[in-house]
Amino acid sequence: MKHEDLRDLLPRIDSYVEDLFASPDPALEDALRRSREAGLPEIHISPNEGRLLQLLAEIAGARRILEIGTLGGYSTIYLARALPEGGSVLSLELDERHAEVARENIREAGLEESVEVRVGDARDLLAWMVEDGEEPFDLVFIDADKGSYPEYLGWALRLSRPGSLILADNAIRGGSVIDPEDASVRATSRFNEALAKEPRLSALILPLIRERVDGLAIARVVGS
Ligand code: SAH
Ligand code: DHB
Ligand code: MG
Repeated sequence: MKHEDLRDLLPRIDSYVEDLFASPDPALEDALRRSREAGLPEIHISPNEGRLLQLLAEIAGARRILEIGTLGGYSTIYLARALPEGGSVLSLELDERHAEVARENIREAGLEESVEVRVGDARDLLAWMVEDGEEPFDLVFIDADKGSYPEYLGWALRLSRPGSLILADNAIRGGSVIDPEDASVRATSRFNEALAKEPRLSALILPLIRERVDGLAIARVVGS
């Protein structure tokens, strides 16, 4: 074991944890199958990251959850499962086709009562929500176009309150964020730096492993 290459070992550790804690789940498996059959890109979070999102939402006691980037609603299902009675998830999605697949997946998972998928460019939808005086969210999960992450952080701060969690997928970008070479990865780097230096946030990036290394940024709003 001592001489085993980390590149082999890390995915095996991920599978080990997944086998223990992410037991077979028909609703999630059906959601992935329907998404694949509809031709959606396979860029959803991993089962372990889903469990992590669900746990964080449960620990935070989140009643109002905002997701930016729905795709087929795979991550949405984990978030919605963390809700207490009467809680809600609002998930923003640019692509009407993705939103339709997500709505079906969410309905089949028995979660339609607590989830709204809203179609539009999240940058517009968020601006309108702030304008309309939307109530603060207890948890915001950012997982849409990577170039807009710095902007999404600004909106997330405006739509949260002290104690809220702000989470973001793909904070490590396969390791490329260490030495960014394109505009999209540079935006991730700016997002991470903003997160680190924002005085209203207490934050960290948790590296996550699957076929590739990535990471979940975890921040708690500590002041306004
Ligand atoms: N959270 C999902 C994966 C999201 S993939 C999961 O883990 O299951 C990213 C999604 O963001 C895609 O569906 C894409 O259409 C959407 N997206 C891209 N740009 C967007 C924008 N400007 N506003 C809203 N959604 C956007
Ligand atoms: C991509 C987007 C994601 O949210 C992700 O987790 C992985 C890949 C992408 O756009 O390629
Ligand atoms: Mg992602």
